[in-house]
Amino acid sequence: MYSVFKKILFSLDPEVAHYTALQSLSMAHQLGISRLQTKTLSQPTTLMGLTFPNPVGLAAGLDKNGDYIDALAALGFGFIEIGTVTPKPQAGNPKPRLFRLTEQEAIINRMGFNNKGIEYVMRRLEKTRYRGILGINIGKNKDTSNENAIDDYLQGYRAFWKFASYITINISSPNTPGLRDLQQSDVLSVLLRALKQEQQFTFSNHKKYIPLVVKISPDLSMQELLSVTTVLLQEKIDGVIATNTTVHRDDVAHSSYAKEIGGLSGKPLQARSTQIITQLHSILQNKIPIIASGGIMDEKSAQEKIQAGAELLQIYSGFIYSGPQLINRILSAI
Ligand SMILES: Cc1cc2nc3c(=O)[nH]c(=O)nc-3n(C[C@H](O)[C@H](O)[C@H](O)COP(=O)(O)O)c2cc1C
Repeated sequence: MYSVFKKILFSLDPEVAHYTALQSLSMAHQLGISRLQTKTLSQPTTLMGLTFPNPVGLAAGLDKNGDYIDALAALGFGFIEIGTVTPKPQAGNPKPRLFRLTEQEAIINRMGFNNKGIEYVMRRLEKTRYRGILGINIGKNKDTSNENAIDDYLQGYRAFWKFASYITINISSPNTPGLRDLQQSDVLSVLLRALKQEQQFTFSNHKKYIPLVVKISPDLSMQELLSVTTVLLQEKIDGVIATNTTVHRDDVAHSSYAKEIGGLSGKPLQARSTQIITQLHSILQNKIPIIASGGIMDEKSAQEKIQAGAELLQIYSGFIYSGPQLINRILSAI
């Protein structure tokens, strides 16, 4: 079924295909057709104090505004991460900004945090029926300087703690100038300490502990990874997502899109992303759980992430290339 749908979608401009797919999914969900999907295998996993019905989740960026949560959840994901959401709405980069490297099973995007902003997303979340595990990924607006970035992340936390099972702090998108500099240890400590204080506040005052998860880049050197992990441990961060997209173009040099600026995801990201998980696992020694994202395209790549030390998986490009069936395929293999 997905292979037919995919043929049509892949004949369209990638960004048009993106919204066509989500709109169709939403319509199918409203008509009750999407439930024809075979039921997802149950494989509960408890992590960060949360019980996930299965360990295969949807990565951030597909549903930036929380418009499709119910329809996506019906496909059988163990958890859904929406966002990245910034305080104010922003249009993102000019189009074209999304490229499909079909032969390499990859995507290059420079969307640039196009999203409708906190207020819109809060209204969406009030309407959603989904009661499963929801991650909300927060970031800063493009016109907010790094000096003032903390305020944007605090606004995100304060708006979303009521709705989120966990909150992801995105400091690793390559498409917001300077964002990845927030991974530098001195800046990162200040940012994470402020968010941890906020977490403590909601716990003391509302008896709700919202795990804080940090999403890191695959382009960190070993030295940079060591300093990031030192901060994550010091600040008692609850989880780490490894990884976001890469700015490197290894394995895609011969594609006509190789020179397009943006983050590369999918199969060419697989090995580097798994290597980061291996390094993280050896540094963290199970003190902080690792969520894998980056090139999970099939059963084998999913198994590799788990062998490297990941406890949860997130898919994005694999979902675009293989469709919802990929969830069950992975679950039967891990
Ligand atoms: C079109 C597109 C948009 C994305 N937007 C976001 C985003 O807003 N926030 C974020 O943290 N990651 C974003 N990502 C990164 C994905 O969440 C994921 O980490 C990355 O694509 C690697 O996984 P994959 O190889 O399975 O695609 C985006 C990825 C793509 C392809």
